Amino acid sequence: MRIGIDEMAFATTPFYFEMDDLAAARGEDPNKYKIGIGQDRQAVVPPTQDIVTLGAQAAVKLSATALKRVSTLIVATESGIDHSKASGIYIKHLLGLNDYIRVVETKEACYSATAALQFARGIVALNPQEVVLIIAADIARYGLNTPGEVTQGAGAVAMLISADPHVLAVEPVSVPYTQDLMDFWRPLYAENAHVDGKYSNQVYVDFFLKTYHRYQQITGRTLADFAALIFHLPYTKMGKKGLEGLLGDDHSNIAQRLRSNLQAEQTLSRQVGNLYTGSLYLGLLSLLQNGDVQPGERIGLFSYGSGAEGEFYSGILQPGYRDRIGEDQLTALTGRQRVSIEEYERLFNGQLGMSAADIEFDVSNDPSPFVLTGQKNFKRLYRIQ
Ligand code: HMG
Repeated sequence: MRIGIDEMAFATTPFYFEMDDLAAARGEDPNKYKIGIGQDRQAVVPPTQDIVTLGAQAAVKLSATALKRVSTLIVATESGIDHSKASGIYIKHLLGLNDYIRVVETKEACYSATAALQFARGIVALNPQEVVLIIAADIARYGLNTPGEVTQGAGAVAMLISADPHVLAVEPVSVPYTQDLMDFWRPLYAENAHVDGKYSNQVYVDFFLKTYHRYQQITGRTLADFAALIFHLPYTKMGKKGLEGLLGDDHSNIAQRLRSNLQAEQTLSRQVGNLYTGSLYLGLLSLLQNGDVQPGERIGLFSYGSGAEGEFYSGILQPGYRDRIGEDQLTALTGRQRVSIEEYERLFNGQLGMSAADIEFDVSNDPSPFVLTGQKNFKRLYRIQ
């Protein structure tokens, strides 16, 4: 039985800043951010958005008939809003999903959407009529004036996992790899991540090469068997570091095609920044909308989450995938509003974070279909607009 991604959708915040503006404010050469890091713009998060609103915004773009069939909802996130209650329960309510549904949350830094996808494959294999909704939603925060600031971002990717999928049939061989190490983490008391940036880059490439080579040993496949290799993109240059670590001096047609499809994967990420759990899957969407890939061809995916865990797996692109990946995202992103660095800093500092106090947000500037209106008696309040 073929099992995999049947439909995909993406949502981000209505605001962004230009990297040129951040570079000017931080006294850096803009080329460091645009070439050295590989980002053009970054999503800016108003206090009225969190992983619940972003997740609902992505999922509501999926077809209504498919949403009615969802039997399990898994939210993959490292930006949790509650130590106990799963954020997916709020999303289930906002989307008006059936009450006869199981809802949970998964966590392992940026990796856990891939774990959710593997768990979903198991659910569907046992009960082929089931449809699993995975929402990978995050807000990446390193703090103002930190080296990681240029690699922040926010957004959500929603995916339906089912039998006979229309987008990507996931192949059986996958190689997970885990080691206990401290490249990036966020203790319970912290609103921003702690990171050992250079070390995290090394671990990422090391885990990619280890999992890819093990996959190659198990399957006997070579680079010629892939139309594209896509990567978790904490910033777009990181994917390049991964791919070049494998290709080295190879400039054959096969290697050049992989390089060009990596650029197609990077297109959307350059506009929003790191989505943490959703990054790899935004990359898949970006490849499918902007790349040179044909139905029947194989795509290799490298998922990475700090702490650290990596997984390399593959899937076969399905006929008709174009009808299941939503609107042209690049065009959709042009509808966002540009904000100044002063405004970004104000919004960054205004997020709810760890505060327990009652608060009511002004939602009049947020045109999103779902908004966080505030907090009362320790309860978050959401509204459908
Ligand atoms: P930094 O120290 O500010 O930057 O931190 P740099 O000095 O290393 O420069 C960055 C690049 O720009 C370098 O290129 C420079 O040469 C180049 P590289 O050597 O890396 O190829 N450069 C220029 N290029 C053109 N023109 C110029 C110029 N100047 C410099 N004028 C760092 C960069 C990424 C470390 C920092 O932003 C950071 O700590 N980010 C967060 C950590 C991160 O994203 N790590 C990635 C791997 S871990 C991961 O993916 C997991 C994660 O998503 C979290 C999770 O799992 O939940 C992060």
